[in-house]
Amino acid sequence: MKKIKSLIIGLGNIGMDVDYENNKKRLSHSSTIYHHRKFELIGGADIKKNQRKKFEKKYKKKSFKSYLDAIKITKPDLIVISTPPNTHLEIINNLANFKKIILLEKPLSDNLKQAKRIASLINKKKLNVFINYFREYIPTFINIINTKSNLYHQCHINYSSSLRENASHHLSLLMNIFDDKKKIINIKSLKKGNKTKDAIINFSNGEIILVSNKIKNYEINNVKIINKDSFTELQLNPIFIKTSKIINDSNFKNGKVLSNIDKYSKEIKDNFFKHVYDNIYNYINGKKFYKIPIEKVLRTEKLIDEIEKV
Ligand SMILES: NC(=O)c1ccc[n+]([C@@H]2O[C@H](COP(=O)([O-])OP(=O)(O)OC[C@H]3O[C@@H](n4cnc5c(N)ncnc54)[C@H](O)[C@@H]3O)[C@@H](O)[C@H]2O)c1
Repeated sequence: MKKIKSLIIGLGNIGMDVDYENNKKRLSHSSTIYHHRKFELIGGADIKKNQRKKFEKKYKKKSFKSYLDAIKITKPDLIVISTPPNTHLEIINNLANFKKIILLEKPLSDNLKQAKRIASLINKKKLNVFINYFREYIPTFINIINTKSNLYHQCHINYSSSLRENASHHLSLLMNIFDDKKKIINIKSLKKGNKTKDAIINFSNGEIILVSNKIKNYEINNVKIINKDSFTELQLNPIFIKTSKIINDSNFKNGKVLSNIDKYSKEIKDNFFKHVYDNIYNYINGKKFYKIPIEKVLRTEKLIDEIEKV
C-alpha cells in the first residue's frame, strides 16, 4: 500500500496543539496523519518558530517557515491548510497549479467576497479540494441528514464560540436538508465585534432556530431535527446521536409520543477527522468517496454572511 505523503501548513491549534499533550486522542491534523496507517506525515510549515520547534520535537519531521519551500522540497500528495481563515485565499491562490489533493480548513474565509474567490479558483483551476466540515463525512451523521424528503423540518442549533467557527459546522450539515433561504429573523442583534447571533431562518421546507451559547461554563454544540416522522439529535464532544421514533401513547386515544433510540459512534469519539482522511484515501485510490461540493460550502458561508448582516 502506497502511503499518502502529507504536509501540514499551519501548526497551530487544530494543526497540532489541540492534542499535543495527549497521546491517545487524534484530534489535530498532525496526530491524525501521524497515526493513520494509510498516510505519512512528511513535514509541516508555520510562520512561527516556536510552533515549528514543537512540531519537530514531537513528530521528528522537518518543518519550514515558507510553505512554498516545504512543497518544493517534500513533494506532497496531500496538503492540509490549517491556517486562519483570512490566509486561505492567498494560500489557495499560490497553490493554483497544485495537481494533487488539498484539505482546506473551514470556513473558506472570514468574509464572503474572499470565499467566493476561493470557490471560483477551485472551479476554474479544477483543484481537488476537500473542505474540513468534518461532521459531513461521518456516515452516521450523513445518513440521518441526507434523508431527502418533502417533510417540513424544524431544526434547532445550539452553538458555542462563533457563527463562523462553530455554527458553520451545523449549518453546513443542514444545508443538505434545506433549499434556498426565504427570510432571516434576527432575535438578538449583533454587537460590534460580536461573532454570535441568535436568529430564525425560514426556508420553504422548514426553519432553523439558531441559538448561541450564553452560559460560558461549558461547551454545547448540537443540532436537533424535528419532523412529523422522527426527532433526531446530533452532538459531538461527547459524541451522541439520539433518534426517536413516533409511537402511540397508551394513555391517550390517538395520542403520539417519542420513543428513544440512542446511538453512539465510538470510532469517532477520539478521532474526529478519521472519516475525512478515509474519504481522501478512497478518492486517491479510485474508491467510493464523499467530497462536499464547493457550491454547498458557499451556500453555507453565504448564509452566515446574511445572518451576520441582519
Ligand atoms: N474542522 C474543525 O473542527 C476546526 C476546529 C478548529 C479550527 N478549525 C479551523 O482551522 C483553521 C486554523 O484554526 P486554529 O484554531 O488552528 O488557528 P491557530 O491560530 O491556532 O493556528 C494557525 C497557525 O497557522 C499559522 N500560520 C498563519 N499564517 C501562515 C502562513 N502564511 N504560513 C504558515 N503558517 C501560517 C500560525 O502561525 C498558527 O500557528 C481555521 O480555519 C479554523 O476555523 C477547524
